Amino acid sequence: MIDVVRGDITQQDVDAIVNAANSSLMGGGGVDGAIHAAAGPALLQACKDVRRRLYPDGLPTGAAIATTGGDLPARFVIHTVGPKYWEYADGGRELLAAAHRNSLAETQRVGASSVAFPAISCGVYGWNPREAAPIAIEAVRTALADFPDVQRVSFVLINDDAFDAFTRAIESAD
Ligand code: APR
Repeated sequence: MIDVVRGDITQQDVDAIVNAANSSLMGGGGVDGAIHAAAGPALLQACKDVRRRLYPDGLPTGAAIATTGGDLPARFVIHTVGPKYWEYADGGRELLAAAHRNSLAETQRVGASSVAFPAISCGVYGWNPREAAPIAIEAVRTALADFPDVQRVSFVLINDDAFDAFTRAIESAD
């Protein structure tokens, strides 16, 4: 089941929330900053461990990795790096889809059955949510067949523009 929710992703009562991170995994602004602030220092520590053990050169664009959720209601944070719109002729649409698909793969791997996505790449990374939403929803709908334990996916949007874009996209996808 896929739904669209207006709200703050750090307050969602789900097993896992997806973080629109940067490749350093050292935190930042936007939803990354909000998640680290709400999760507390354990999240940054877990990200430093991931960098040391798995991604010494940083998390590649489109990849995803799960860590503890720290003090969040969610047990896990799944960090992914969306494409920077200006770096690709088409904005990096395949990488945007991959970020969603790989986040669902991580959701399944850690045994989480519910997951919330923000509007990945729709802030600092320059994507227009009206362009990103159909790609995000199509990527999730297609990938869910491969991840049977993931029962519920929510797109959680904190602003009107993104909420309207994702609501429109999910209605036209049905
Ligand atoms: N809950 C839900 N959505 C949020 C929240 C929140 N608490 N805070 C921000 N957002 C929304 C933004 O309004 C935007 O629609 O998340 C979307 C993604 O925007 P960014 O957080 O800027 O992420 P992105 O565009 O992927 O850029 C990633 O920004 O914060 C830095 O460290 C991050 O360098 C990375 C870059």
